[in-house]
Amino acid sequence: MSFLEEIARRRTFGIISHPDAGKTTLTEKLLLFGGAIQEAGAVKNNKIKKGATSDFMEIERQRGISVATSVLAFIYKDKKINILDTPGHKDFAEDTFRTLTAVDSVIVVIDVAKGVETQTEKLVEVCRMRNIPIIVFINKLDREGKDAFDLLDEVEQKLGLRVTPMSFPIGMGYDFKGIYDIWGKKLNLFSGDNKQTISEGVEFNDVNTPELDEIIGETAAETLREELELVYEVYPKFDHQEYLEGKLQPVFFGSALNNFGVKELLDAFIEIAPHPQPKKAEERLVDSKEEKLTGFVFKIHANMDPKHRDRLAFVKIVSGTFKRNTPYLHVRNNKKVKFSSPNAFFAEKKEIVEESFPGDIVGLHDTGSFKIGDTLTEGEILHFKGIPSFSPEHFRYVNNADPMKSKQLYKGLDQLMDEGVAQLFTLDMNGRKVIGTVGALQYEVIQYRLEHEYGAKCTYENLHVHKACWVEAEDEKNEEFKEFKRVKQRYLAKDKQGQLVFLADSAFTIQMTQSKFPTVKLHFVSEFK
Ligand code: G4P
Repeated sequence: MSFLEEIARRRTFGIISHPDAGKTTLTEKLLLFGGAIQEAGAVKNNKIKKGATSDFMEIERQRGISVATSVLAFIYKDKKINILDTPGHKDFAEDTFRTLTAVDSVIVVIDVAKGVETQTEKLVEVCRMRNIPIIVFINKLDREGKDAFDLLDEVEQKLGLRVTPMSFPIGMGYDFKGIYDIWGKKLNLFSGDNKQTISEGVEFNDVNTPELDEIIGETAAETLREELELVYEVYPKFDHQEYLEGKLQPVFFGSALNNFGVKELLDAFIEIAPHPQPKKAEERLVDSKEEKLTGFVFKIHANMDPKHRDRLAFVKIVSGTFKRNTPYLHVRNNKKVKFSSPNAFFAEKKEIVEESFPGDIVGLHDTGSFKIGDTLTEGEILHFKGIPSFSPEHFRYVNNADPMKSKQLYKGLDQLMDEGVAQLFTLDMNGRKVIGTVGALQYEVIQYRLEHEYGAKCTYENLHVHKACWVEAEDEKNEEFKEFKRVKQRYLAKDKQGQLVFLADSAFTIQMTQSKFPTVKLHFVSEFK
């Protein structure tokens, strides 16, 4: 297969949802179609994300929360599909945001009864900002839920999307009869016992034939006809280009648990979802079809093997072919590095690969030289954009609880921050370290990992900070900036990259500071240039 064909057949995407909407279940059913797993339940039972790849974290298992973001790949109808799984728990939202920098499209799962939930809103907003193509899957149609039209309205309003239904439910909950596949013009009938099987819908080009009444009953047939008429009237027709540009979002209905409507989703997905897209670097736009390798680290997973201090850096290939044992430039370190055992991911396994193509994710074993956002090239100096840090929500001083182990503590903190577990700020005034996180849970994760992986102990002390604001001075030499630094001295810190950060204690303070020092800009994201 040629290089261009390899690119054209790849689909790299993420599934996002509010916890419990059915992301894991849907992932599992998709894998089932790819023959990547043999039985339903395999994913859930070992919770893939919690299987071989993330055993290291007892804490994760205890809490039943997927901390890890794993990669699941499979082949379906000759397409190479890479699913980048994202943790649903809000405390790990930042991990999900970073993963979204490595996907070419997303599927959003929504629970038919609960509708649009908070976590979905946040994640979709990030996708919309980046114009990522989005497909919506409304799940759990076997349960009583909201009216389909009301839900479509809700998706439009709460998520700011412009939707077009690609399938439409016939009844719901107890009365759920199936779906009409608008995209494939098929009727797919639901029977409660097809849980594990893959059903083929029957061609049904014309819903106006009396045959429909015979199959689903007169009332249901009439309702479906009326509803479809409304669909055609109210919603825009599917337009591939608009979808690719993030301006139109196709919606599918189904039940992941019952493996219903999933095949329709997957079949449409491989047709319409984009293959690996060009990516912006600070220097230029890099096209996936360029022959020279470029890629960036979007995730670091620590201690895959608890016996060795081993980390796996997940690299998304943006362009070119990644080859085993070939030297590449680690741009930040300005060093050539080669990898003797790069991992590719297949279903829930990882294996050594010789070659990977744009859209693929390779896992590189690393002992600490990578951090999130690092770029690999064949020599060109490139920095891929778009992996910013967001202002944390929680802030605590971190103290060393075992003075004999301070070296271990700092090394541990350093590495955990490189992995993106949390953010570390060093106060200008006294050099004290402050850890900022998205969720309170990370403090326990850090404490646990410092102890188990680095032999260091830490304690925390509360610190009242509302937001971390990255500071941009119009002119660092002007009097206003100097005055700002003098007045706010106690609240200034440096992030790990050495960027100046203002730790503001309230929204009011931010507002006051902005009006008092108009030439000093405050940003809630580390990447603002
Ligand atoms: P998540 O990854 O988004 O957090 O959700 P997950 O797939 O774990 O699904 C959450 C719950 O919703 C699970 O039930 C799952 O079985 C159920 N579910 C998923 N899809 C459907 C569906 O189409 N119909 C119905 N009725 N339920 C669905 P659970 O009781 O929490 O877990 P389990 O005991 O089934 O494993």
